[in-house]
Amino acid sequence: MKNIAILCSGGDVSGMNPALKHFVEYSHRKNLTPYFVYNGFEGLIDNKIQKASYSDVSGIINRGGTKIGSSRSQRFMDKKYRDIAKANLDKLGIDMLVVLGGDGSFRGMDVFYKESGIKFCAIPSTIDNDINGTDYCLGVDSALNIIKTSIDSIRDTASSFKRSFVVETMGRDCGYLALVSALTCGAELCLIPEIEYDFKDYEEDFKKQLFNGRDYFITIVSEGIKDSSQTVSNWFEEKIGIESRVVVLGHIQRGGNPTVYDRLMAYKFINYAIDGLLARQDESVICYTKDGFVYKSIEEVANSPKYLDLELLELLECK
Ligand code: F6P
Repeated sequence: MKNIAILCSGGDVSGMNPALKHFVEYSHRKNLTPYFVYNGFEGLIDNKIQKASYSDVSGIINRGGTKIGSSRSQRFMDKKYRDIAKANLDKLGIDMLVVLGGDGSFRGMDVFYKESGIKFCAIPSTIDNDINGTDYCLGVDSALNIIKTSIDSIRDTASSFKRSFVVETMGRDCGYLALVSALTCGAELCLIPEIEYDFKDYEEDFKKQLFNGRDYFITIVSEGIKDSSQTVSNWFEEKIGIESRVVVLGHIQRGGNPTVYDRLMAYKFINYAIDGLLARQDESVICYTKDGFVYKSIEEVANSPKYLDLELLELLECK
């Protein structure tokens, strides 16, 4: 029997637990012995690597976060610690790793593979959906649904109280979460880092709307825009003339019950990752594209920026 391990790195997402469950199931089906690495790359260094059984993954399919923990490891950037990680894996006879994380984690694995020969398949997992080469990252749908539920609730109070609400989503420098949420939650205004904006362009129109009886405004801003959410809110009060509040959704976007879509995608990503490793895809990222699942190189995925889908941007423009 060959051994295979899985770890989660970087920001956790809802969908990691279903992926862990299926990792154990599918490894057994493929006659592999599954191992969990606890706390991301930190666990590789600290030898927190344990055989995983069915009982480890029972009752986790409906849980957000990751049962095996995650981290952003500084130590793994240092060769001294990567050598310790390699020695720990050697002791257990593990030479295949499935890595759930973002492009920073993939770059770390790339260096590790080149030094140690530990093969890996990476599964894009971040709510930011900012990884080049894949249309979908695990956890995005669950995050979008959390945002949708939150904004639906905010709309109730906004409309009752005649207020503007500025809702801030996560995403780092990528406006995907804000953009899709603005489209699907009917926001009046969406501000994202990828699009230049000038408040003056909206002033006359919004004032007219208020004069004509509009009761409330919902604005969705991505955390990476040049202004703070409070600045946007102040603009509504000072220039448009409506009381305004800020809601920063924060880390609730990363947790909660994984959606059906994320559970299914978790299973598919895992199947492809394990199949790829067995078929000697020694260093790849499994990406989801319009042509289905495709194995891509680290260079293509981790070394180029991700651009937002033009179709989505056009939808926003014609709102
Ligand atoms: O990359 C995922 C993410 O949730 C970003 O959207 C956000 O900017 C960041 O992580 C928050 O990081 P932390 O959990 O370290 O506060």
